Amino acid sequence: MGEDVFAAFEAAKGFMPADEGRALHAAAAEAAAALRLPLLEIGSYCGRSTLLLADAARRAGTVAVTVDHHRGSEEQQPGQEFHDPELADPSAPGRMDTLPHFRRTLADAGLEEYVVAVVGGSPQAAAALGGGGGGRFALVFIDGGHTDTHARADYESWVPRLAAGGLLVIHDVFPDPADGGQAPYRIWRRAVSSGRFAEVSACRSLRVLRRTAADAADG
Ligand SMILES: C[S@@+](CC[C@H](N)C(=O)[O-])C[C@H]1O[C@@H](n2cnc3c(N)ncnc32)[C@H](O)[C@@H]1O
Repeated sequence: MGEDVFAAFEAAKGFMPADEGRALHAAAAEAAAALRLPLLEIGSYCGRSTLLLADAARRAGTVAVTVDHHRGSEEQQPGQEFHDPELADPSAPGRMDTLPHFRRTLADAGLEEYVVAVVGGSPQAAAALGGGGGGRFALVFIDGGHTDTHARADYESWVPRLAAGGLLVIHDVFPDPADGGQAPYRIWRRAVSSGRFAEVSACRSLRVLRRTAADAADG
């Protein structure tokens, strides 16, 4: 990854630390180069992690598809732990809008053309983008809603679109409940216990798995 992209990553709003960012970029670069298929992210927020997928996609001649309704997760709403008042929708106090920030992040880094941004709910986007016979991805990065309902829906909506040999990356995997919410950990466990993934690497809460079985059903 070029230092200019890494500097843009560090400057962007978001929650991902530098070492996890480098691990995500490495996974994205490997998957994009090996499979030459688009990369998929759930949870664009202000574009911090999207920059990394966009850079990997650019190098491999593909694109990063990123999905977000841009209204923030539960924990990012006013009064919640991860709320940022700078992300309020100027036309509607109390409502969040991360989309302008996301667009500025990608444009300022010169990576806009390597990103296809889908603005909408994750399961709705999965259903709309080709139904059961839709396209395949070289990498699926899950960092969307962190409730069990959202994490499970992200897993069930998008993991069937992961190509054989592709990488599943899940953020905020905390085996110890004292370190954070358990929903991402539960979908990571589900993937591991399905027998259809091999563990590739772990960097703090960022876990990388490789899909070893081609069929969509994973229990
Ligand atoms: C933790 S943030 C993503 C951070 C980003 N990956 C980064 O590292 O910079 C989670 C994002 O998921 C989005 N989100 C939560 N639930 C969603 C859903 N059901 N559909 C679409 N987006 C959702 C929120 O709007 C928020 O921007």
